[in-house]
Amino acid sequence: MIKKIAVLTSGGDAPGMNAAIRSVVRSSTARGLKVYGVQNGYLGLIHDDLFELTASDVSGIIIRGGTMLGSARVPGFKGLAVQQLALETLQKHEIDAIVVIGGDGSYRGALALSKLGVKVVTIPGTIDNDIPGTEQTIGFDTALNTAIEAIDRLRDTSSSHHRCSVVEVMGNRCGDIALFAGIATGAELVITPETGFNLKDTMKHLSQLDTVSGKKHAIVVISEKLTDVDDLAVQISAQTSFSGRSTVLGYIQRGGSPTAMDRILATEMGDVAVSALLAGQHASAVGYLDGHVTSMKLEDAFEYKRNEKEEIFALQRRLV
Ligand code: ADP
Ligand code: F6P
Repeated sequence: MIKKIAVLTSGGDAPGMNAAIRSVVRSSTARGLKVYGVQNGYLGLIHDDLFELTASDVSGIIIRGGTMLGSARVPGFKGLAVQQLALETLQKHEIDAIVVIGGDGSYRGALALSKLGVKVVTIPGTIDNDIPGTEQTIGFDTALNTAIEAIDRLRDTSSSHHRCSVVEVMGNRCGDIALFAGIATGAELVITPETGFNLKDTMKHLSQLDTVSGKKHAIVVISEKLTDVDDLAVQISAQTSFSGRSTVLGYIQRGGSPTAMDRILATEMGDVAVSALLAGQHASAVGYLDGHVTSMKLEDAFEYKRNEKEEIFALQRRLV
């Protein structure tokens, strides 16, 4: 029987993680469970750094970005000996189950713990929207809106100066922030890990925008880790009639008060996570699929096929 659960946030933080913590705590305490907050992701489990969280401890955090529990990347957690330390902490505090809020790496950590017999449920929290068992992750909508606001501003100044703004957004190996920010801002070109980056094609496309379409400006939204955007801007100035400028949005995208959508998604997901544990789903992943927040076996989440969004890429290209 589950009486005590722990909750942690791990990997890159994301707006809405606090809303998820609040939901887990309030949903648990309302059902008579005790909740412990683990500090700094798996690090807190290794170092026995946890404390009891009451319903009033999570008051006011739904509106705050970041995570009140702290987050960390702990590469050593891939090793069995380190995972055993985490297990010992959970046993010492007689914790029956754990809720892990994080990205795909954090999911792997949760799977490792479940293989050691720990009851786990995961909640997708990352701005990247790159977790297979869900169509949307907590933090994605806020990061997207932050990127859109920045790109709208860049468009104003680019139009005035016949410039091409190259805007690098985050996403790790996933192009969702770039794709949806590109659609929402009417960007002229979207380059992501899915489309690939080709310098020659990019130059050809931008030259046509000016000579054939008569555009006053061009916005290129590009995912991180594909090319050096400062160099790309220099190439644009040299090879097209646009003057190239680069902007890296960076960590701005990870902060800020979560949007309504992220707050609601996180609140629903926290509640479904607690329900899954109480229903005996002891290695599960919460996800948003077909318009509903639901839970599935954690191992199945890794196998879940991602929607490649080909039609959305095509739509973006058609409307330039
Ligand atoms: P995210 O969860 O945002 O994808 P990371 O990939 O950095 O972020 O993963 C977060 C943490 O999860 C890592 O620092 C590590 O502690 C743990 N982790 C990642 N991969 C594994 C793995 N294969 N086995 C066990 N733990 C892992
Ligand atoms: O996973 C979230 C994310 O912000 C990615 O978009 C980015 O590639 C990475 O984390 C940055 O990681 P760090 O915070 O370790 O620099």
